[in-house]
Amino acid sequence: MNQRQWNELALCLVRKAVLAPSSHNTQPWVFRIGTSEIDLFADRSRALRVNDPEDRELTISCGAALMNLRVAASNYGFRVQVQLLPEEAEPDWLARATLSRDSGEPGAEGALTEFVEKRRTYRKQFAVREVDSESVEHLVAAAVAEGQWLRPLLSEETRQGAARLVAEGDAAQWADRSWRRELATWMRSRRRGDGLTVPALAAPVAQLVIRTFDMGGRVGAKNRELAETSPLLAVLGTERDDPDDWLKAGEALQRVLLVGCQRNLQASFLNQPIQVASLRLKLQNLIGGGVPQILLRLGYPVEEMPSAPRRQVGDVIEQEKWHTAEQARLLRAGDLAATRRAPHPRAPSPTGAQRRG
Ligand SMILES: Cc1cc2nc3c(=O)[nH]c(=O)nc-3n(C[C@H](O)[C@H](O)[C@H](O)COP(=O)(O)O)c2cc1C
Repeated sequence: MNQRQWNELALCLVRKAVLAPSSHNTQPWVFRIGTSEIDLFADRSRALRVNDPEDRELTISCGAALMNLRVAASNYGFRVQVQLLPEEAEPDWLARATLSRDSGEPGAEGALTEFVEKRRTYRKQFAVREVDSESVEHLVAAAVAEGQWLRPLLSEETRQGAARLVAEGDAAQWADRSWRRELATWMRSRRRGDGLTVPALAAPVAQLVIRTFDMGGRVGAKNRELAETSPLLAVLGTERDDPDDWLKAGEALQRVLLVGCQRNLQASFLNQPIQVASLRLKLQNLIGGGVPQILLRLGYPVEEMPSAPRRQVGDVIEQEKWHTAEQARLLRAGDLAATRRAPHPRAPSPTGAQRRG
């Protein structure tokens, strides 16, 4: 593959990667394109200091982006070797994905590529229809394939218990003014390309209302009902709770979501009882152990949802190395912004990264 083909491929892969879900749609990632590898960095300037003080969800989001990249590379017939947290001294450097030519045939994971664009976070009521047991098995197997676990909450007792914890989580979060302020800053108009979308004219009002009023009671009651009536509730978790577990949880999460989508399912997140530390313990006890990372509700959507906005791909590719005329042309070709971005402040220097190879 010549340089031009590699540039095109790498850009394609990053375009798929950024379609991953991320908490508050912060899209907290930066990609650096090398000669046969793509490095993934955390963009901690997009961290949610109140909602996610340890950057756990930020790291999970980046893991989900990595999964998309792997799936897309496999679809193009490439083998991807992933190194997580390649350099202990550089915690922002989350992963290196090195591509090599495989048979040229799409790999097994590649079959999931078409669902990367079809997946949505679906926050509405699902159709009143049970998720069939075969689909549940596939979802569980998707998490296991990534070395993690997905535990469906099948008994009425655990479902009710989890739904109660969701409402408790809402109450705790909304009572915290700094949490509301942070949420309000991520309520944005679509043209911003990130955040939780509200119509442009309504954005200032929505932000003001969220900042000012504790709506925990109302939101909690609605989410509790959503949880109780969801066709399927499931907790995705890990054995430990370190950054590499969070990355792997993100990969597993995205695999579960894509496999679900392949089976016509969509999902949304009810993570409140995991985000609030005291409730996370209660959830852990409720489900019989392990480290809960994500609480999902899944079901069959009743209507098509528009996709959530994404930042321009030129804004998530580190420009330091990605700056040849050819690469800039490629970025512009997709009607995408080119070299606006300053180098990511906390990323290692390219020479350093190259040395480590
Ligand atoms: C780690 C993580 C945590 C999330 N937590 C929540 C949540 O608590 N509530 C929610 O409604 N959505 C949550 N989301 C979904 C994001 O808001 C969603 O991915 C984002 O708005 C982009 O939309 P999309 O998934 O439809 O592309 C979460 C996503 C991730 C990856």
